[in-house]
Amino acid sequence: MIYLDNAASTPIHKDVLTEMLPFLSEQYGNPSSIHKLGRTANKAIQNARKQIANLINAQPNEIFLTSGGTESNNITLHGFAYAKKGNHIITSSIEHEAILEPCKRLEKDGFSVTYLPVSSDGLVDPTYIKNAITKDTCLVSIMFANNEVGTVQPIKEISKICKEKQLPFHSDAVQAVGKMPIDVRDLELSAMSISSHKLNGPKGVGAIYIKKGIKIEPLILGGGQENGIRSGTENVASIVGFGKACELAKENLQKNIVHLKSLRDSLVSKITSEIPHVSFNGNREKRIPNNAHFTFLGVNGEDLIIKLDENGVAASTGSACSVKIQKASHVLKAMGFSHEQITGSLRLTVGLSNTFEEIDTTVAILKKVVKELREVSPFKTKYGL
Ligand SMILES: Cc1ncc(COP(=O)(O)O)c(C=O)c1O
Repeated sequence: MIYLDNAASTPIHKDVLTEMLPFLSEQYGNPSSIHKLGRTANKAIQNARKQIANLINAQPNEIFLTSGGTESNNITLHGFAYAKKGNHIITSSIEHEAILEPCKRLEKDGFSVTYLPVSSDGLVDPTYIKNAITKDTCLVSIMFANNEVGTVQPIKEISKICKEKQLPFHSDAVQAVGKMPIDVRDLELSAMSISSHKLNGPKGVGAIYIKKGIKIEPLILGGGQENGIRSGTENVASIVGFGKACELAKENLQKNIVHLKSLRDSLVSKITSEIPHVSFNGNREKRIPNNAHFTFLGVNGEDLIIKLDENGVAASTGSACSVKIQKASHVLKAMGFSHEQITGSLRLTVGLSNTFEEIDTTVAILKKVVKELREVSPFKTKYGL
């Protein structure tokens, strides 16, 4: 299988697995226990916290462990909302559902939410944020990199605006961490969400960076773990793996970026030059290095994915991130795409273990299956495919 769905999840790095294994067997202590087994587990968590903090230039006590990106986003949105500093939230119309759904819930609870539009190449205009701020705004939450089209938002500029207005600024950086240098101090972020399984760590674990001094209301109450922000016995083995994945990402960041970018660029140039009637979506420069997103005219993206799968290539339309029911991508809709353009979309996201040979094989397969699908396409005559 050629795996080109690394935005959905990534394989666990072998060194990550090695670090995790003792905590799935002999090191089973509860990190809150006083005895030696408990202390060993606690020490391992504190070490992971340092490794995670190190990747984004935070302090370890600014890292709050969660069950992943979804939970990090939920805790942050509810946490700032229920800190009762205002009842208006600003976000974008291309956020992941893990931001949009809690926003909808907050709207039902009496909050108002502004969903900012994006340009046709998938970027938020910071001046729109400036104009949307009211005296009731309590949080601005704009994603770092989009999970479908890979576009990287102008985080520093947005941060500057929020700082001027003394507003907290959160960014869902699940797709960006480990793919580009991120320094939360330099960016002056108030909070940021991270997920382990997008950077070659295990699933079901993530973190929120919350800048020192900022107080948010907890969403999950109980034994008071994670400084009261997220109660519940910690998922020790996964946290250890997440920490190691962050350490490896930090050590190899520049090398990985170069590798991902050259694989991705090769894929893009071959697909756009060898296959007719294809467009490349999202800003070309302001994007994470592993993402390529296309529209194949007259082709149904789901049929394409099934055909690619039959031929040994794992890909995605990019829009089905939680459930198997496909709905038209809200991201592409916000970028002004027509129904036909949305239907014909395909996301290919490269990972560290992909090779140039795999890229060539994928292009050859894609060429063949797109041709087959266009032969039976209802748009064959309309577009002269
Ligand atoms: C931008 C973004 N935010 C949040 C999430 C959810 O993260 P997790 O799968 O760790 O819950 C994802 C996962 O696809 C994502 O891409």
